[in-house]
Amino acid sequence: MKNIGVVVVLFALAVVHGDHLEVGFYEGSCPSAEALVQQVVAEDFLVDPGVAPGLIRLHFHDCFVRGCDASVLLNVSDDGSTEVERKAGPNLSLRGFKTINKAKAAVELNCPGVVSCSDILAFAARDSSSLSSAGSISWDVPAGRRDGRISILSEAQSGNLPPPFFNASSLVTNFEQKNLTAEDMVILSGAHSLGVAHCQAFTSRLYEDPNLPDSPPQTASGLSLAYADLLRKLCPSDPPVDLSAFMDVITPNTLDNKYYFGVLNNLGLLNSDNALREAVDLKAIVEKMSKYPVWWGKKFGVSMVKMGGIENTEEVVTEIRTNCELPNSITDFSNRYFKIRTDS
Ligand code: HEM
Ligand SMILES: *[C@@H]1O[C@H](CO)[C@@H](O)[C@H](O)[C@H]1NC(C)=O
Ligand SMILES: *[C@@H]1O[C@H](CO)[C@@H](O)[C@H](O)[C@H]1NC(C)=O
Ligand SMILES: *[C@@H]1O[C@H](CO)[C@@H](O)[C@H](O)[C@H]1NC(C)=O
Ligand SMILES: *[C@@H]1O[C@H](CO)[C@@H](O)[C@H](O)[C@H]1NC(C)=O
Repeated sequence: MKNIGVVVVLFALAVVHGDHLEVGFYEGSCPSAEALVQQVVAEDFLVDPGVAPGLIRLHFHDCFVRGCDASVLLNVSDDGSTEVERKAGPNLSLRGFKTINKAKAAVELNCPGVVSCSDILAFAARDSSSLSSAGSISWDVPAGRRDGRISILSEAQSGNLPPPFFNASSLVTNFEQKNLTAEDMVILSGAHSLGVAHCQAFTSRLYEDPNLPDSPPQTASGLSLAYADLLRKLCPSDPPVDLSAFMDVITPNTLDNKYYFGVLNNLGLLNSDNALREAVDLKAIVEKMSKYPVWWGKKFGVSMVKMGGIENTEEVVTEIRTNCELPNSITDFSNRYFKIRTDS
């Protein structure tokens, strides 16, 4: 009887998350799609390894706002509005758009109008993970997403994306709203093993209320004292917008489980990173992930696939965009690739 329960639960999850997507979706219609995306990402990664964290984060921001529909890539919404997600503050920090445009151009040359920008972004996030882990972290990407036509700045500012000051329970609730578990949240936070955060995202942790002095061996906000000193030298209390620090001081450019080791040792840069250590149930997951690198890498892929299955439930009409930064209605009125959704 127990087994039947498990089967039912797994089936329910499959229905909720991305059941319309399939691995190898372009095998018939554009067999070179995934290889072309990989080539472009690898080329750009060689010049600037920062494109990898950029692309992984773009995929996350895409999926958490209107589902994985490439709404984060739009410069203009279908109604002509330029108040789009990517302009939401802090807007200086999303990166990787040029790589996606290059990948899209390469794919369009081979099979025009077939491969969605949202799938290209999902492939690119996987390729970025693989490149940043010397090939040890990778996964098959279910594809078949379609691109939305609408992007709204305010949707990236309120409610959907978790801000860095969130505590453990708010983080868990935020991910649950996207049908992701607390464990998914902890596992996906491991993406903070790569890339940077701008001072503005964490200075409030460095210059605190004088009523809350440092309490050795950590600051009131839970940072190691030595690390807080280092960060104070880097970031003044009212930092200019362009200053940033590595998210993972131990191995800043390698996607690995050292992030969890850092979190346990008061090196979590954002309040949201530190929160994973403060809640007992989350801390148990962090401890496990810090001990088993290969296992974490596998689980990261599984949770990324789950995140990549978040659907855009707002829009009925979707398309395969010609230009990832513009809806087709604006690129070319005479050449629309609309399809009425039949899957829900
Ligand atoms: C758990 C809640 C999360 C919060 C509160 C959060 C918050 C942030 C913040 C504030 C930054 C720094 C942005 C900047 O100042 O430039 C950042 C960077 C980053 N985040 Fe998250 N994030 C979360 C989850 C995730 C997830 C789920 C992923 C992907 C799976 C992710 C991937 C990244 C990456 C790769 C960077 C570095 C970006 C770069 O170097 O360009 N984050 N995150
Ligand atoms: C979209 O906006 C970015 C940033 O302003 C710009 O570099 C890019 O050329 C724009 N893309 C299109 C298709 O207009
Ligand atoms: C960046 O975001 C801020 C705050 O939302 C906004 O005032 C500003 O116009 C945005 N800048 C750009 C270039 O979109
Ligand atoms: C977390 O933050 C929320 C929202 O600010 C607050 O209601 C809640 O009490 C906080 N939880 C803890 C454990 O501090
Ligand atoms: C989460 O699952 C529920 C129940 O199937 C569904 O109605 C909802 O649209 C899903 N939410 C997201 C963001 O995928």
